[in-house]
Amino acid sequence: MGNTVAQNDAVVLDPLLEKVHRDGGYDFREYKRGTVTRRLERRLHATGAKTYLDYMEFLDAHPEEYQKLADDLTIKVSGFFRSPYTFQQVARLVLPELISYKRNQGEPSLRLWSTACARGEEPYSIAILLAEFLGNRLQDFNISVYATDIDRQALEEAQAGIYSLKDIDGLPSAILESYFTRRREGYVMRADIRQMLSFSYFDLTSTIHPFVDLDCIFCCNILIYLQEQLQERLLDMLYNSLATPGYLILGEVETPTNSLRGKLDCLDTKARIYRKIGGDDEDD
Ligand SMILES: C[S@@+](CC[C@H](N)C(=O)[O-])C[C@H]1O[C@@H](n2cnc3c(N)ncnc32)[C@H](O)[C@@H]1O
Repeated sequence: MGNTVAQNDAVVLDPLLEKVHRDGGYDFREYKRGTVTRRLERRLHATGAKTYLDYMEFLDAHPEEYQKLADDLTIKVSGFFRSPYTFQQVARLVLPELISYKRNQGEPSLRLWSTACARGEEPYSIAILLAEFLGNRLQDFNISVYATDIDRQALEEAQAGIYSLKDIDGLPSAILESYFTRRREGYVMRADIRQMLSFSYFDLTSTIHPFVDLDCIFCCNILIYLQEQLQERLLDMLYNSLATPGYLILGEVETPTNSLRGKLDCLDTKARIYRKIGGDDEDD
């Protein structure tokens, strides 16, 4: 009986997370401790380790365990148009303003980023939303939807763009018929939609910013797993990656940290849609 992790000396957690970072390349040091310890406990059970120290020894003997730990620590739940109200409001509040700005500037490129894309449901939803909104004006724009994650397996599946019946459950039939082809292997995303997306590995705990001048960033359902100082660093990085105007979309229960107060206009509190307020004050 009893909770294995509770019996571990909490001070060993820091060295364990340091080790996972140093030797495994995964940085969970600033993830919320509750989630980390709960998920670690599952790995302890799975590997037969009784303490964090045992588990550190197990990692040395079985380096493939780093990947399994990372899989358990990163929650991949997602869905097409996961927060329907948010997507509806992006179409209502963001796209008309953004497209009209681009037209006035004579600027045909649109650059968007799905920062924790899991198996691609979010970035494909973004691309479908754009296709629906632009209709036959879609060809007028050069659209790039960058989609990143730290889960390489999820990225591979996202790139393939093939979904099961369960994955597409709840999608309106008009969307299903227009954007997916039913094949033996599953529901396959339309090729021209897939071409708008570019998938790559990017770790949001890293201090660099991989893109600049983005029109819109979706950072949904990842901040909730991170401690406040990491949330703050990440949001600063995202803010600095946005063009002006540029839009930031967060998950339903996520909010910008204090450091961004006064730098973002909130366009819809419920949908968590924010617009960058002028001035490029890069911090780094
Ligand atoms: C709950 S899913 C959210 C998926 C999608 N954004 C949504 O809202 O439906 C969280 C995703 O964040 C990814 N993730 C976790 N830590 C990450 C990190 N440090 N860098 C990039 N992605 C990360 C996970 O692999 C997972 O795919």
